Amino acid sequence: MKVTVLNKQIQVTPADALIINLFEGVQIPGGATGAVDTALGASDGVPGDGAISQLLKLGDFKGKLNEVTVVYTHGLIPAPRVIVVGLGKTGDFSAERAMQASGVAARKARDLGCKTIATLAHGAGVGGLNTHAAARATIEGALMGTYQFREHKAKPTGGKVLDEIILVEYDAKKLDEINAGVREGEAIANAVNTARTLMNRAPNVLNPVAMADFASAMAAQLGLTCTVMGEDEIKANKMGGIIAVAQGSANAPRFVILEHKPDTSSVKRQTSNVNGSMTQSPTAQFDKPLVFIGKGVTFDTGGISLKDPGGMEAMKGDMGGAAAVIGAMQAVAALNLPRHVIGLIPMVENMPSDRAFRPGDVITMMSGLTVEILSTDAEGRMILADALHWAKRYDPAGVVDLATLTGACVIALGEGVAAGLFANNDDWAKQVLSAAGSAGERLWQLPLYAEYGEKIRGDFAEIKNTGGRFGGVGTSAYFLKRFAETDKGNDAYPWAHIDMAGMTFCNENKGHQVKGAMGYGVRMLVELARSA
Ligand code: BES
Ligand code: MN
Ligand code: ZN
Repeated sequence: MKVTVLNKQIQVTPADALIINLFEGVQIPGGATGAVDTALGASDGVPGDGAISQLLKLGDFKGKLNEVTVVYTHGLIPAPRVIVVGLGKTGDFSAERAMQASGVAARKARDLGCKTIATLAHGAGVGGLNTHAAARATIEGALMGTYQFREHKAKPTGGKVLDEIILVEYDAKKLDEINAGVREGEAIANAVNTARTLMNRAPNVLNPVAMADFASAMAAQLGLTCTVMGEDEIKANKMGGIIAVAQGSANAPRFVILEHKPDTSSVKRQTSNVNGSMTQSPTAQFDKPLVFIGKGVTFDTGGISLKDPGGMEAMKGDMGGAAAVIGAMQAVAALNLPRHVIGLIPMVENMPSDRAFRPGDVITMMSGLTVEILSTDAEGRMILADALHWAKRYDPAGVVDLATLTGACVIALGEGVAAGLFANNDDWAKQVLSAAGSAGERLWQLPLYAEYGEKIRGDFAEIKNTGGRFGGVGTSAYFLKRFAETDKGNDAYPWAHIDMAGMTFCNENKGHQVKGAMGYGVRMLVELARSA
């Protein structure tokens, strides 16, 4: 979709639909919404008596978040219809809410068959967002909310597709900010949609080789460095966890390294957070990279510890962590962020077969630790462990791994409610939580008690790959922690683990979320790359 900025009054802008907003409780619309209202009045030029005011007076529109209605303009202005969207209570407003409302309104326009829409930047006035943040949220929400995945269908668009979204701003002084916000929102929404597409893609199509090919093609296009290890190199590096999980599948594993190096000649470490406030960080942090690790199990049958077949198709999303890292690297490169960022993505398929690893096997991991397999369905931690060990060579400033790791996390925090966070370092945990908060992505910290470590102490090897049913999310995190340690048992780097098993697919259109893969994690990682 084309995204443009126009310096004009919205009520005289030609488009198939204008998109304006209202906060809950507003009686007389102001700003650009007010200007549209006045233009739609019986006596043009008198404020507070237009079609929008009418809606409010009759009580037909309350301004509740994501409430949406269509008003027809009878030739009074160039656009044939106006879509009014509610922003909710001013006190509850946020950039994330602006995204939601923008997603709802843009999707409404698309479903009505509109080709071009002209929108104002939601939340810039009474909402208290600065111009940049409002423009970004509006575009990000619209692009995320109108995303469609139809790759495997005959008609790639379903007939209805928006061609252009025009962000309209009358105040010429604000155009620079608007433009910057629009470009940022566009880059980030496209990155989220990349992650969604990878997750939605069928698992017979998106196997480890195909996902690695995707990453390397993307890297070539964006100027990221990309290294793809095949089976032989993975074996040569003694990545025992990756080899064990992959060996049951006819689809070979891959280990992908994506690297973004900023242009240090023009180091100006000045970035703005989602609310647009400027922050300055010491350039010293520059040298040490951030490392993002994503679980890339392109399909998880459970292996010999076979899963129940009911709902197993959802396990095509078991590469959601990998998708988030690929998406984040896309945005980091597209925005050319002044931060050294490395993405590590182990990719495997977990299959049962005569060659598959089995319960009872003892695997020597890349770090040298031995692991007794109790369940081949606890495969994610096996591949992440080797990636966490690999990360030590970069002397990272901080590491975040994202993984659809445990059903236990979904039991604890709910489906579509929040992901779980574990960390070996409080400052790093705070930074990750704050990035997630700015991005409006739900994340809740859980403890890494030493008892979880005792639960995975090994009988036949140093550790076991599961700690039993109770505290399953904690024991999985503790398993990973062991691979973020030096051989002396000290923390090798600040590490955070995000269990996003509950944040893979959603089953309804809601705000900027659409039915299917959520693309969770991309936005917080980008925020982290800007702030940490
Ligand atoms: N990929 C699953 C976890 C999962 C469950 C993701 C539900 C998304 C939705 C993971 O590999 C797994 O199978 N975990 C096991 C671990 C157990 C065997 C210790 C689980 O949670 O049951
Ligand atoms: Mn599994
Ligand atoms: Zn899995």
